[in-house]
Amino acid sequence: MDYGNECVLVTGAAGFIGSHVSASLIGRGAKVVGVDNFDPYYARSMKEHNLKMVEDTGGSFVFEEMDIEDSGALSSLMSQHSVSGVVHLAAKAGVRPSIADPVGYARVNVTGTQSVLSAASAAGDGSLCRRVLAASSSSVYGNNKTVPFGEGDSVEHPISPYAATKRACELIGETHHHLTGLPIAMLRFFTVFGPRQRPDLAIRLFLHKVSKGETITMFGDGSMSRDFTFVDDIVSGVLAAYERIDEFGYRIWNLGSDHPMELHELIRTVGEVVGREPIIDQLPMQAGDVDRTWADLQRSKKELGYAPTTSIREGMEKQWEWMQAHRGVVGL
Ligand SMILES: NC(=O)c1ccc[n+]([C@@H]2O[C@H](COP(=O)([O-])OP(=O)(O)OC[C@H]3O[C@@H](n4cnc5c(N)ncnc54)[C@H](O)[C@@H]3O)[C@@H](O)[C@H]2O)c1
Repeated sequence: MDYGNECVLVTGAAGFIGSHVSASLIGRGAKVVGVDNFDPYYARSMKEHNLKMVEDTGGSFVFEEMDIEDSGALSSLMSQHSVSGVVHLAAKAGVRPSIADPVGYARVNVTGTQSVLSAASAAGDGSLCRRVLAASSSSVYGNNKTVPFGEGDSVEHPISPYAATKRACELIGETHHHLTGLPIAMLRFFTVFGPRQRPDLAIRLFLHKVSKGETITMFGDGSMSRDFTFVDDIVSGVLAAYERIDEFGYRIWNLGSDHPMELHELIRTVGEVVGREPIIDQLPMQAGDVDRTWADLQRSKKELGYAPTTSIREGMEKQWEWMQAHRGVVGL
């Protein structure tokens, strides 16, 4: 694909994955229009720093502070910039907080996603907007017993409001494609980590606390496992989906690593990377947390050429280097 002809709207551009996707698109020659409302889930200063990283690429980037629920404003922005595709990453993203705020999660993740799709179709009257990708999540698989999780598996039993909103996004996307013909991809990300990772997520939290000699909380007996996926691998999958969704119409793809790691092993690796023995406080499993995730990558390998390359250890070392180089921003 010649990205020089692409103008991509990235929602959630100030966030962790959004800032990486934006920088990568710009690096390939695309123009990026980023939107984000600086949801207070974590510090605005961290999100402004993420945006600065995107701006520092020196490519074509414009940013608007905007709420994705404002479909009219989104579609005007898309027309104004002749947006040719959308990567929709804006969301309320935590699993546990969704139990305390299910209404807020449904509003942003479900209504917000419909708003983005409607804006894309409104702006596409002159057939400018040709594709939409949106972030789904491995959490849609709930506590399915059969692993690895394949895209064709049952996703009828999400166990958190967050997971339910992500499954709802997939259904909304499928319906929207059926009605409009707009090519739409739903990408099921599996626990993403790396530089600029959200501060609430385990690897960043553990690197921070273990390096300072603080106690970390381990929920469950340590056997819970996640298919941790390095952000550069996720970005390569996102771009591959952007380039190929036209051929599929509507498609769901897993983007994971196919190398799940148990929590106790993750904590041990954190200790090795920061050079300090972790101090662990064990608490019961939290409501909403699934027992394990593990991506079956057969479909994304075959159809997208997706091939993750970064091990957890290697990615964690890169993330730790980044945290040390940005001590002020991450509060180390
Ligand atoms: N990080 C992961 O491990 C992971 C795993 C599965 C799925 N996802 C999904 O990937 C996407 C990106 O996640 P992330 O980890 O980068 O999270 P993030 O919180 O860093 O980024 C999301 C961004 O969306 C913005 N946002 C929230 N509500 C908005 C609204 N109403 N209008 C405009 N912007 C809004 C936030 O301010 C934030 O900057 C999300 O959809 C998330 O659900 C992430």
